[in-house]
Amino acid sequence: MYSGGQGINTRPFERSAPGKIILCGEHSVVYGRPAVGVPVSTVRSTAWVASTPSGSGLRIDALDLQQSALLGDADADDPLALCARLVLKSLSAQEPDAVLKVHSDLPIASGMGSGASVAAAAARALSASLGHELAPSAVSRITHEVEKIHHGVPSGIDNTVIAWERPVYFVKDSAPQTFAIHTPFKLIVAYSGIASSTKAAVTAVRRRFEAAEGYYSVLFDCIGAISTAARDAVEQGAIQTLGTLLNENHELLTKMGVSLAQLDELVVAARQAGAMGAKLTGSGQGGNIIALVDEETVAPVRAALEGAGATRIWEATVGSSDA
Ligand code: MEV
Repeated sequence: MYSGGQGINTRPFERSAPGKIILCGEHSVVYGRPAVGVPVSTVRSTAWVASTPSGSGLRIDALDLQQSALLGDADADDPLALCARLVLKSLSAQEPDAVLKVHSDLPIASGMGSGASVAAAAARALSASLGHELAPSAVSRITHEVEKIHHGVPSGIDNTVIAWERPVYFVKDSAPQTFAIHTPFKLIVAYSGIASSTKAAVTAVRRRFEAAEGYYSVLFDCIGAISTAARDAVEQGAIQTLGTLLNENHELLTKMGVSLAQLDELVVAARQAGAMGAKLTGSGQGGNIIALVDEETVAPVRAALEGAGATRIWEATVGSSDA
């Protein structure tokens, strides 16, 4: 079960942001092909701001990392400091005397967008404490800049899904296209226990692409077509079709070289236990897989994933208020 939850704001300047799952299209989205992402609203990052004595400046506490730094002392490539600087710049505001605290229920380096989620929550909380609620487009823009520290050249799908908190059909450098879910569906997210660096995975794909552009372009085209078909399936409530598309997408990601034996084992275990489809999600080389299940298969698929070595498991119903 998800341990997080949106909850009630008990602090005046507390704001949050969800995690995200890429249903289809990771990596090929970096090369301009479409991808589909959905928010996971029950696993969230939270940030809040409290005043401190005059003259103390802005301190940023990253609680999960047990790190604390004054904005004035932070390096240019400190993600939360960059986030704060971008918020202050966009509001033309002075640095406040305050502490900004950040916590996330999302596992780091798992493909659920923890970096983008933390930045979105922090941007919202700091801005709110300065008397301004940021629009999703502004949250997305700031988060995208912060993501560049983590990932180099992120496509923008993570910050878009997280800032808009809606299902998104995403094409790089285009306006986000949100869409409606016809019939809610259940996903199991299973963590392989292997931390995954998006930057490393994207760089490895880039190297392979440059060595075999024709082959990789075909892979990217096929995955782009799968993403479009997946969006259509979700819009039409064709859940079995979505399962088949997830399976197809995983095979192509394997050909792209971003899967691992451990991820393949989780995917196969989920399918054998009755999942309608399963694939790695995010940058791969570790991180999470997703399995599409229904009420009957959720328990056996969970058990199979535990047996196959998943170290953490969450359930999400996509398209319902508890997703
Ligand atoms: C990471 O969540 C998704 C990737 O496609 C990278 C990106 O889109 O920037 C692997």
